[in-house]
Amino acid sequence: MRFRQFSGFARALFLSMVLLGGVLGAQFSHAEAAKPNVVILATGGTIAGAGADAMNSATYQAAKVPVDKLIAGLPQLEKIATVRGEQVFQIASESFRNDNLLALGKRVAALVKQNDVDGIVITHGTDTAEETAYFLNLVVKTEKPIVVVASMRPGTAISADGALNLLNAITVAGSKDARGKGALVVMNDTINSGRDVSKMINIRPDAFQSPWGPLGLVVEGKSYWFRKLDKRHTTTSEFDIEKIDALPLVEIAYAAGNVNDTAYRAFAKTGAKAIIHAGPGNGSVAGTLVPTLQELRGKGLHIIRSSHVNAGGFVLRNAEQPDDKYDWLVAHDLNPQKARILATVALTATNDTKELQRIFMEY
Ligand code: DGL
Repeated sequence: MRFRQFSGFARALFLSMVLLGGVLGAQFSHAEAAKPNVVILATGGTIAGAGADAMNSATYQAAKVPVDKLIAGLPQLEKIATVRGEQVFQIASESFRNDNLLALGKRVAALVKQNDVDGIVITHGTDTAEETAYFLNLVVKTEKPIVVVASMRPGTAISADGALNLLNAITVAGSKDARGKGALVVMNDTINSGRDVSKMINIRPDAFQSPWGPLGLVVEGKSYWFRKLDKRHTTTSEFDIEKIDALPLVEIAYAAGNVNDTAYRAFAKTGAKAIIHAGPGNGSVAGTLVPTLQELRGKGLHIIRSSHVNAGGFVLRNAEQPDDKYDWLVAHDLNPQKARILATVALTATNDTKELQRIFMEY
Protein backbone atom coordinates (compact mmCIF):
# COMPACT_ATOMS: atom_id res chain seq x y z
CA MET A 1 0.00 0.00 0.00
CA ARG A 2 1.35 3.51 -0.77
CA PHE A 3 1.46 6.23 2.02
CA ARG A 4 -1.50 8.09 0.43
CA GLN A 5 -3.57 4.86 0.50
CA PHE A 6 -3.54 4.96 4.34
CA SER A 7 -6.46 6.80 5.98
CA GLY A 8 -5.99 10.46 6.81
CA PHE A 9 -5.92 9.53 10.56
CA ALA A 10 -3.22 6.92 10.07
CA ARG A 11 -1.08 9.37 8.07
CA ALA A 12 -1.53 12.10 10.76
CA LEU A 13 -0.65 9.58 13.51
CA PHE A 14 2.49 8.44 11.68
CA LEU A 15 3.68 12.02 11.06
CA SER A 16 3.08 13.03 14.69
CA MET A 17 5.09 9.97 15.84
CA VAL A 18 7.96 11.00 13.58
CA LEU A 19 7.76 14.58 14.87
CA LEU A 20 7.63 13.43 18.53
CA GLY A 21 10.61 11.15 17.97
CA GLY A 22 12.55 14.02 16.49
CA VAL A 23 11.75 16.31 19.43
CA LEU A 24 12.62 13.64 22.02
CA GLY A 25 15.78 12.81 20.14
CA ALA A 26 16.77 16.46 20.11
CA GLN A 27 15.93 16.76 23.79
CA PHE A 28 18.05 13.69 24.59
CA SER A 29 21.00 14.82 22.54
CA HIS A 30 20.58 18.29 24.06
CA ALA A 31 20.55 16.71 27.53
CA GLU A 32 23.64 14.70 26.58
CA ALA A 33 25.26 17.79 25.11
CA ALA A 34 24.20 19.87 28.16
CA LYS A 35 26.12 17.54 30.56
CA PRO A 36 29.16 19.53 31.78
CA ASN A 37 32.72 18.26 31.28
CA VAL A 38 34.55 17.98 34.60
CA VAL A 39 38.18 16.97 35.11
CA ILE A 40 39.22 15.39 38.42
CA LEU A 41 42.83 16.02 39.45
CA ALA A 42 43.64 13.44 42.13
CA THR A 43 46.36 14.17 44.67
CA GLY A 44 45.78 11.49 47.37
CA GLY A 45 44.47 11.88 50.91
CA THR A 46 41.82 9.98 52.82
CA ILE A 47 39.32 10.27 49.99
CA ALA A 48 41.71 7.84 48.29
CA GLY A 49 42.38 6.02 51.53
CA ALA A 50 41.75 2.42 52.58
CA GLY A 51 41.43 0.80 55.99
CA ALA A 52 41.68 -2.88 57.04
CA ASP A 53 38.17 -3.00 58.50
CA ALA A 54 34.84 -1.17 58.10
CA MET A 55 35.16 -0.10 61.71
CA ASN A 56 38.40 1.77 60.89
CA SER A 57 37.10 5.29 60.32
CA ALA A 58 40.31 6.84 61.62
CA THR A 59 42.89 4.06 61.27
CA TYR A 60 43.76 3.60 57.59
CA GLN A 61 46.30 4.39 54.92
CA ALA A 62 45.72 7.61 52.93
CA ALA A 63 46.56 7.96 49.23
CA LYS A 64 45.99 4.38 48.05
CA VAL A 65 43.00 4.34 45.64
CA PRO A 66 43.68 5.59 42.06
CA VAL A 67 41.43 8.23 40.49
CA ASP A 68 39.92 5.85 37.90
CA LYS A 69 38.74 3.61 40.76
CA LEU A 70 37.20 6.60 42.55
CA ILE A 71 35.26 7.45 39.38
CA ALA A 72 34.28 3.83 38.72
CA GLY A 73 32.88 3.63 42.25
CA LEU A 74 30.35 6.39 41.42
CA PRO A 75 27.97 5.20 38.65
CA GLN A 76 25.64 8.08 39.59
CA LEU A 77 28.15 10.44 37.96
CA GLU A 78 26.73 9.45 34.56
CA LYS A 79 23.68 11.66 35.16
CA ILE A 80 25.64 14.65 36.45
CA ALA A 81 28.67 15.22 34.23
CA THR A 82 31.11 13.76 31.74
CA VAL A 83 34.10 13.10 33.96
CA ARG A 84 37.72 12.16 33.35
CA GLY A 85 40.52 11.83 35.87
CA GLU A 86 44.24 12.59 36.11
CA GLN A 87 46.45 11.24 38.90
CA VAL A 88 48.59 14.32 39.59
CA PHE A 89 50.06 13.00 42.88
CA GLN A 90 49.26 10.18 45.30
CA ILE A 91 50.29 11.64 48.67
CA ALA A 92 48.90 12.44 52.09
CA SER A 93 48.41 16.19 52.04
CA GLU A 94 50.57 16.93 55.10
CA SER A 95 53.41 16.07 52.69
CA PHE A 96 52.48 18.76 50.16
CA ARG A 97 55.44 20.99 49.21
CA ASN A 98 55.48 24.37 47.45
CA ASP A 99 56.49 22.48 44.30
CA ASN A 100 53.28 20.44 44.51
CA LEU A 101 51.26 23.66 44.74
CA LEU A 102 53.05 25.10 41.71
CA ALA A 103 52.58 21.96 39.60
CA LEU A 104 48.91 21.62 40.56
CA GLY A 105 48.21 25.32 39.95
CA LYS A 106 49.82 25.20 36.52
CA ARG A 107 47.85 22.07 35.54
CA VAL A 108 44.56 23.70 36.63
CA ALA A 109 45.45 26.88 34.71
CA ALA A 110 46.16 24.86 31.56
CA LEU A 111 42.96 22.80 31.80
CA VAL A 112 40.58 25.73 32.39
CA LYS A 113 41.78 27.24 29.11
CA GLN A 114 40.36 24.26 27.23
CA ASN A 115 36.86 24.73 25.76
CA ASP A 116 36.02 21.10 26.54
CA VAL A 117 36.57 21.67 30.29
CA ASP A 118 33.74 23.28 32.30
CA GLY A 119 35.08 22.75 35.82
CA ILE A 120 37.84 21.18 37.89
CA VAL A 121 37.63 18.96 40.96
CA ILE A 122 40.74 18.32 43.03
CA THR A 123 40.62 15.33 45.37
CA HIS A 124 42.93 16.10 48.27
CA GLY A 125 43.86 15.21 51.83
CA THR A 126 42.04 17.19 54.49
CA ASP A 127 45.15 18.34 56.38
CA THR A 128 46.21 21.00 53.89
CA ALA A 129 43.16 21.19 51.60
CA GLU A 130 42.49 24.70 52.93
CA GLU A 131 46.00 25.81 51.89
CA THR A 132 45.74 24.40 48.38
CA ALA A 133 42.26 25.86 47.90
CA TYR A 134 43.45 29.31 49.02
CA PHE A 135 46.52 29.09 46.79
CA LEU A 136 44.38 28.30 43.72
CA ASN A 137 41.96 31.07 44.73
CA LEU A 138 44.89 33.51 44.54
CA VAL A 139 46.70 32.46 41.38
CA VAL A 140 44.39 30.76 38.81
CA LYS A 141 42.78 33.28 36.48
CA THR A 142 39.47 31.68 35.59
CA GLU A 143 35.73 32.06 36.15
CA LYS A 144 35.32 28.27 35.85
CA PRO A 145 34.61 26.44 39.12
CA ILE A 146 37.65 24.98 40.92
CA VAL A 147 36.47 22.65 43.68
CA VAL A 148 38.71 20.99 46.27
CA VAL A 149 37.14 17.92 47.88
CA ALA A 150 38.32 15.55 50.58
CA SER A 151 36.90 13.13 53.09
CA MET A 152 37.24 12.52 56.79
CA ARG A 153 36.75 8.74 56.49
CA PRO A 154 38.21 6.24 53.99
CA GLY A 155 35.86 4.61 51.48
CA THR A 156 36.27 1.31 53.33
CA ALA A 157 34.65 2.65 56.53
CA ILE A 158 31.00 2.49 57.58
CA SER A 159 29.28 5.82 56.69
CA ALA A 160 32.24 6.90 54.59
CA ASP A 161 31.77 10.51 53.45
CA GLY A 162 34.02 10.49 50.36
CA ALA A 163 31.53 9.26 47.75
CA LEU A 164 28.87 11.89 48.42
CA ASN A 165 31.53 14.59 48.89
CA LEU A 166 32.95 13.71 45.46
CA LEU A 167 29.50 13.58 43.84
CA ASN A 168 28.67 16.98 45.36
CA ALA A 169 32.01 18.42 44.27
CA ILE A 170 31.38 17.33 40.68
CA THR A 171 27.87 18.78 40.84
CA VAL A 172 29.30 22.15 41.89
CA ALA A 173 32.21 22.01 39.42
CA GLY A 174 29.70 21.44 36.60
CA SER A 175 27.30 24.13 37.76
CA LYS A 176 27.10 27.47 35.93
CA ASP A 177 26.05 29.04 39.27
CA ALA A 178 29.49 28.22 40.69
CA ARG A 179 31.28 30.30 38.05
CA GLY A 180 33.11 33.34 39.34
CA LYS A 181 32.83 32.25 42.99
CA GLY A 182 36.58 31.57 43.42
CA ALA A 183 38.16 28.30 44.52
CA LEU A 184 35.77 26.30 46.66
CA VAL A 185 35.88 23.46 49.18
CA VAL A 186 32.90 21.07 49.09
CA MET A 187 32.54 18.75 52.09
CA ASN A 188 29.62 17.49 54.19
CA ASP A 189 26.95 18.92 51.80
CA THR A 190 28.46 22.39 52.32
CA ILE A 191 30.18 24.80 49.90
CA ASN A 192 32.84 26.96 51.54
CA SER A 193 35.18 29.54 50.08
CA GLY A 194 38.72 28.27 49.67
CA ARG A 195 39.81 31.53 51.30
CA ASP A 196 37.76 31.32 54.51
CA VAL A 197 37.47 27.58 55.17
CA SER A 198 39.64 25.71 57.62
CA LYS A 199 39.77 22.20 59.07
CA MET A 200 38.40 23.11 62.52
CA ILE A 201 37.92 19.51 63.76
CA ASN A 202 40.15 16.53 62.92
CA ILE A 203 37.83 13.54 63.43
CA ARG A 204 34.29 14.38 62.24
CA PRO A 205 32.62 14.77 58.80
CA ASP A 206 31.68 18.38 59.67
CA ALA A 207 35.37 19.29 60.08
CA PHE A 208 35.49 22.07 57.48
CA GLN A 209 34.02 25.39 58.57
CA SER A 210 34.47 29.09 57.79
CA PRO A 211 34.42 31.68 60.59
CA TRP A 212 32.27 33.86 58.28
CA GLY A 213 29.95 31.01 57.23
CA PRO A 214 29.56 28.84 54.12
CA LEU A 215 28.71 30.12 50.63
CA GLY A 216 26.07 27.48 49.95
CA LEU A 217 24.82 23.90 50.09
CA VAL A 218 24.60 20.93 47.74
CA VAL A 219 21.47 18.83 48.09
CA GLU A 220 20.49 15.88 45.86
CA GLY A 221 22.61 16.95 42.91
CA LYS A 222 21.84 20.66 43.04
CA SER A 223 23.83 23.57 44.49
CA TYR A 224 22.16 26.38 46.44
CA TRP A 225 23.99 29.67 46.99
CA PHE A 226 23.53 32.21 49.82
CA ARG A 227 26.53 34.57 49.59
CA LYS A 228 29.74 35.42 47.71
CA LEU A 229 33.35 35.99 48.79
CA ASP A 230 34.07 39.73 49.07
CA LYS A 231 37.85 39.44 48.80
CA ARG A 232 39.83 39.52 45.48
CA HIS A 233 40.32 36.14 43.84
CA THR A 234 40.94 34.32 40.51
CA THR A 235 40.10 36.76 37.71
CA THR A 236 40.26 39.80 40.05
CA SER A 237 43.59 38.70 41.52
CA GLU A 238 46.84 40.48 40.61
CA PHE A 239 48.67 37.13 40.86
CA ASP A 240 48.98 34.68 37.96
CA ILE A 241 50.33 31.13 38.29
CA GLU A 242 51.52 31.30 34.69
CA LYS A 243 53.98 34.01 35.75
CA ILE A 244 55.17 32.24 38.94
CA ASP A 245 57.91 29.61 38.64
CA ALA A 246 59.20 29.54 42.21
CA LEU A 247 57.74 30.22 45.64
CA PRO A 248 59.80 31.85 48.43
CA LEU A 249 60.25 30.16 51.81
CA VAL A 250 57.85 31.42 54.48
CA GLU A 251 57.83 29.67 57.86
CA ILE A 252 55.39 29.60 60.78
CA ALA A 253 56.53 29.94 64.39
CA TYR A 254 53.90 28.87 66.95
CA ALA A 255 53.91 31.02 70.07
CA ALA A 256 52.31 30.22 73.43
CA GLY A 257 53.40 30.95 77.00
CA ASN A 258 57.13 30.64 77.79
CA VAL A 259 57.98 31.21 74.11
CA ASN A 260 61.64 31.75 73.14
CA ASP A 261 63.34 32.87 69.93
CA THR A 262 64.99 29.59 68.89
CA ALA A 263 62.58 28.79 66.05
CA TYR A 264 62.64 32.35 64.68
CA ARG A 265 66.45 32.40 64.55
CA ALA A 266 66.56 28.94 62.98
CA PHE A 267 64.05 29.98 60.28
CA ALA A 268 66.09 33.08 59.51
CA LYS A 269 69.21 30.91 59.10
CA THR A 270 67.43 28.67 56.54
CA GLY A 271 66.62 31.64 54.33
CA ALA A 272 62.99 32.32 55.20
CA LYS A 273 61.81 35.56 53.57
CA ALA A 274 59.05 35.96 56.16
CA ILE A 275 58.00 34.37 59.42
CA ILE A 276 54.34 34.01 60.33
CA HIS A 277 54.17 34.64 64.06
CA ALA A 278 51.28 32.35 65.07
CA GLY A 279 50.48 34.18 68.25
CA PRO A 280 47.82 33.80 70.95
CA GLY A 281 44.88 36.21 70.95
CA ASN A 282 45.46 39.22 68.74
CA GLY A 283 48.65 37.69 67.29
CA SER A 284 50.32 38.83 70.54
CA VAL A 285 54.13 38.92 70.80
CA ALA A 286 55.89 38.20 74.13
CA GLY A 287 58.06 41.12 75.27
CA THR A 288 61.12 38.85 75.37
CA LEU A 289 60.64 38.08 71.65
CA VAL A 290 60.49 41.67 70.38
CA PRO A 291 64.26 42.33 70.24
CA THR A 292 64.86 39.19 68.14
CA LEU A 293 61.99 40.03 65.76
CA GLN A 294 63.38 43.56 65.42
CA GLU A 295 66.84 42.15 64.65
CA LEU A 296 65.43 39.80 62.00
CA ARG A 297 63.30 42.60 60.49
CA GLY A 298 66.46 44.68 60.33
CA LYS A 299 68.00 41.92 58.21
CA GLY A 300 65.12 42.19 55.71
CA LEU A 301 62.94 39.31 56.93
CA HIS A 302 59.23 40.16 57.23
CA ILE A 303 57.36 39.49 60.48
CA ILE A 304 53.65 38.77 60.00
CA ARG A 305 51.44 38.60 63.07
CA SER A 306 48.64 36.02 62.85
CA SER A 307 46.40 34.48 65.52
CA HIS A 308 46.17 30.78 66.34
CA VAL A 309 42.83 31.13 68.16
CA ASN A 310 40.47 28.35 67.07
CA ALA A 311 37.21 29.86 65.82
CA GLY A 312 38.55 32.77 63.79
CA GLY A 313 41.25 35.34 64.51
CA PHE A 314 41.24 39.03 63.65
CA VAL A 315 44.62 40.74 64.10
CA LEU A 316 44.28 44.50 64.14
CA ARG A 317 47.27 46.61 63.05
CA ASN A 318 48.86 48.61 65.92
CA ALA A 319 46.24 47.25 68.38
CA GLU A 320 48.52 45.56 70.92
CA GLN A 321 51.81 45.89 69.06
CA PRO A 322 53.31 49.05 67.44
CA ASP A 323 53.35 47.48 63.96
CA ASP A 324 54.06 50.80 62.25
CA LYS A 325 57.05 51.43 64.52
CA TYR A 326 58.42 47.87 64.11
CA ASP A 327 57.54 47.70 60.36
CA TRP A 328 55.61 44.47 60.99
CA LEU A 329 52.63 43.10 59.07
CA VAL A 330 49.31 41.72 60.31
CA ALA A 331 47.50 38.76 58.71
CA HIS A 332 44.04 40.34 59.31
CA ASP A 333 41.59 37.39 59.67
CA LEU A 334 43.84 34.76 58.08
CA ASN A 335 44.97 31.88 60.29
CA PRO A 336 48.71 31.10 60.30
CA GLN A 337 48.60 28.46 57.54
CA LYS A 338 46.53 30.72 55.27
CA ALA A 339 48.81 33.67 56.08
CA ARG A 340 51.76 31.53 54.98
CA ILE A 341 50.10 30.87 51.60
CA LEU A 342 49.30 34.53 50.99
CA ALA A 343 52.75 35.71 52.10
CA THR A 344 54.37 33.09 49.84
CA VAL A 345 52.39 34.33 46.82
CA ALA A 346 52.65 38.04 47.67
CA LEU A 347 56.45 37.87 48.06
CA THR A 348 56.73 36.73 44.43
CA ALA A 349 55.48 40.23 43.53
CA THR A 350 56.79 42.64 46.17
CA ASN A 351 58.90 43.00 49.32
CA ASP A 352 57.47 46.39 50.28
CA THR A 353 55.73 46.48 53.68
CA LYS A 354 52.94 48.86 52.60
CA GLU A 355 52.22 46.81 49.46
CA LEU A 356 52.28 43.55 51.43
CA GLN A 357 49.88 44.96 54.03
CA ARG A 358 47.54 46.10 51.24
CA ILE A 359 47.59 42.57 49.86
CA PHE A 360 46.75 41.10 53.27
CA MET A 361 43.74 43.40 53.52
CA GLU A 362 42.47 42.72 49.96
CA TYR A 363 42.87 38.91 49.58
N1 DGL B 1 46.73 12.23 56.08
C1 DGL B 1 45.91 13.43 56.07
C2 DGL B 1 45.83 14.02 54.65
O1 DGL B 1 46.15 13.33 53.69
C3 DGL B 1 44.53 13.17 56.58
C4 DGL B 1 43.78 12.31 55.68
C5 DGL B 1 42.55 13.01 55.14
O2 DGL B 1 41.64 13.31 55.94
O3 DGL B 1 42.55 13.32 53.93
O4 DGL B 1 45.47 15.20 54.57
